[in-house]
Amino acid sequence: MTTSKTAQTGLHPIENASRDEITALQTERMAWSLRHAYDNVAHYRAKFDAAGVHPKDFKQLSDLAKFPFTTKQDLRDTYPFGMFAVPEDKVARIHASSGTTGKPTVVGYTQKDIDTWADLMARSIYAAGGRAGDKVHVSYGYGLFTGGLGAHYGAERLGCAVIPFGGGQTERQVQLMQDFKPAIIMVTPSYMLAIADEFDRQGIDPRTCSLRIGIHGAEPWTHQMREEIERRFDIQAVDIYGLSEVMGPGVAQECAESKDGPVIWEDHFYPEIIDPKTGAVLPDGEEGELVFTSMTKEALPIVRYRTRDLTRLLPPTSRSMRRIAKITGRSDDMLIIRGVNVFPSQVEELILKQPKLSPHYVLEVIREGHLDAVRVNVEIKPEFATATAAEKEYVAHELQHHIKSYIGISTKVDIRPVGGIERSVGKAKRVIDLRPK
Ligand code: DLL
Repeated sequence: MTTSKTAQTGLHPIENASRDEITALQTERMAWSLRHAYDNVAHYRAKFDAAGVHPKDFKQLSDLAKFPFTTKQDLRDTYPFGMFAVPEDKVARIHASSGTTGKPTVVGYTQKDIDTWADLMARSIYAAGGRAGDKVHVSYGYGLFTGGLGAHYGAERLGCAVIPFGGGQTERQVQLMQDFKPAIIMVTPSYMLAIADEFDRQGIDPRTCSLRIGIHGAEPWTHQMREEIERRFDIQAVDIYGLSEVMGPGVAQECAESKDGPVIWEDHFYPEIIDPKTGAVLPDGEEGELVFTSMTKEALPIVRYRTRDLTRLLPPTSRSMRRIAKITGRSDDMLIIRGVNVFPSQVEELILKQPKLSPHYVLEVIREGHLDAVRVNVEIKPEFATATAAEKEYVAHELQHHIKSYIGISTKVDIRPVGGIERSVGKAKRVIDLRPK
């Protein structure tokens, strides 16, 4: 089934299909994908065999739970191309994630995979409110990161004009946005705020710029952050979700008309939520770890991939497919401070409730004696740059108090001057671990 009609006719029919139609399509595609993985990837065959399952054991979607999970480690163990299910001469594109330690995670696409990705990104931009003829400024990084090229191909597929800027050179980004007048920007939410600051610095009110829509993702961001972006630019800001191992951006996209969490393109990716400790599949609505199985990917079929992202599956609204709630965080980013689980997004929410604080922050984890503690470094808003030491003290105290009462941990809060927190041009680094190794 092709989605290339999106540009001309609006929604692809599957986006409004009945649950029965979606289930039938998923069942058929899943059977193909499991068979494809088993027949063509030695690593999958060995894992399925060890778990005592065979693709023929898959009769209905609930049978998927019998199959083993795939993790980042599987991709590392088979570095670089061991999980590819097609001969190397059928691979049309290779991307890789930087990976904080050790080898990068490598992912591959056939020409058909690239086409599907472009179709799904076109569907995503359409869902965000973009239309053929719109100009799209892409500030996601180009290169091995999937953000830039993923956005680029999708925008072209929809019939938009792409401005392939990539990350960085913020001053120039603003200048070209003023000159080229894009309707849409695709960029991480944290970098979007750095762009807002640059507008201010140049004495241009970002609300007067040509942008209508911001399509933001690649990192966790809160509803408060959305409000901040929408207020500063006077645009609609929507959430886009994805990960390299499953495809890249455009695995799920929030619809402009409901803004109620990204819709998973369930005709290509089958979601499950599991208990991260036991691996048991949880019912829709319960919070746990998001797991994806690809149903159409040729070069890198991915079976029950553990994303580490924590969220819930929500019922369909603007489309016939299920949604994800805002990602609370990655299980890897969860801090455990004196027995209390803390995600940076929880602190972000409270920072943004303080009218004098900016959304630029970083959490430092420190060791005090034998105990871990958190220092919250956060910038004052430019409007309050001249606040007195006593006023800053008061704001710091307020934030500390809120963190203590809502999250349950004691923190130190350091209010930094404007520009006192390093800006990222892509994914923001929210946690710095300063504990002795
Ligand atoms: O970040 C793909 C992407 C590019 C998505 C541009 C959206 C926009 P990776 O570098 O492999 O791929 O990182 C994937 O980023 O597992 C999440 O932890 C996080 N992430 C991505 N989108 C969101 C989002 C790209 N909307 C990892 N909300 C994922 C929260 C997100 N976290």
